[in-house]
Amino acid sequence: MDTLVAMELLEKFKQGDQWLYSNSEMATKFLTKDSPDSYLDMIAFTNKTLYPIFGNLESAILEGTTQWQKTFGMSAEDFFPNVCNTEEAKLRFMGAMHCNSLYASYAAAKAIDLSAYRSCCDLGGAVGTLAYALCQFYPEMKITVCDLEPAVSLAHLFRPSVEACPNQANVSFAVGDFFKPETIPKADLYVLSHVLHDWSEDKVDLILSNVYKCLPSGGGLLICERILNEDKRGPLPSLIFSLLMLVSTGGKERSASEYKHLLEKHGFVDVQAKSVYFTQDAIFCRKM
Ligand SMILES: C[S@@+](CC[C@H](N)C(=O)[O-])C[C@H]1O[C@@H](n2cnc3c(N)ncnc32)[C@H](O)[C@@H]1O
Repeated sequence: MDTLVAMELLEKFKQGDQWLYSNSEMATKFLTKDSPDSYLDMIAFTNKTLYPIFGNLESAILEGTTQWQKTFGMSAEDFFPNVCNTEEAKLRFMGAMHCNSLYASYAAAKAIDLSAYRSCCDLGGAVGTLAYALCQFYPEMKITVCDLEPAVSLAHLFRPSVEACPNQANVSFAVGDFFKPETIPKADLYVLSHVLHDWSEDKVDLILSNVYKCLPSGGGLLICERILNEDKRGPLPSLIFSLLMLVSTGGKERSASEYKHLLEKHGFVDVQAKSVYFTQDAIFCRKM
């Protein structure tokens, strides 16, 4: 208990001749189940999945592959079916995505002026965390979150109250697959948040070429990821994240010039990169 006091997770006070402990403000905010800022799902997902799989980092580096097989005896290929393989796991993963991007979503939504766009599709938008942030800043924007069935089926559990998000009716959900352009809802702004870093180069090319095909001329693409320094010496949390991608999804983080090159290869123009939050950067570009 005293170690938790030293970690500022508990407070310790004396009543009579007894020492008592209570949650600190930080613990109440981030570590209690009912707090709107609860980080518990991300901690549970880290404990159950990311921490064990990161233990096989050495094999991932030597073999250049994900470590699902070695860590959990699961198909080495697919991250998403693996993390959604039971009802409990699915809820944990979606909860983790929600709390992980809660604050960063607000920062990303206002970092770039998106007011010219009226229809937006958040591809791989999970349970709508960024979509609800966008609709707060852009009340004229209709946003469709397009994701696989596991995400869409749980989205109702994460819908904010009307008091917390008065424009929440502007957000809707559609089951779709960003590898199948015919299933992608039409929009004049697409968002890919923490999506491109999940995939190998050929899959990233396929996603970007599908987005380009779906976008009208003048349409925009907002990418939210962690950007690496040009010399790849930092930032350290982004480099660690890149290793986590290697070991769990087979993807990686990129530098701003790597994003620029990738996006221009697919025909996008006016590529700009911006740091928006301590865990979040944004890259914005347009189709001519
Ligand atoms: C790492 S999560 C990111 C979630 C959210 N965008 C965020 O920033 O927190 C990747 C998301 O992509 C979704 N996804 C994976 N494969 C997909 C596919 N083929 N088509 C659409 N969504 C997919 C997953 O279900 C998951 O919600």
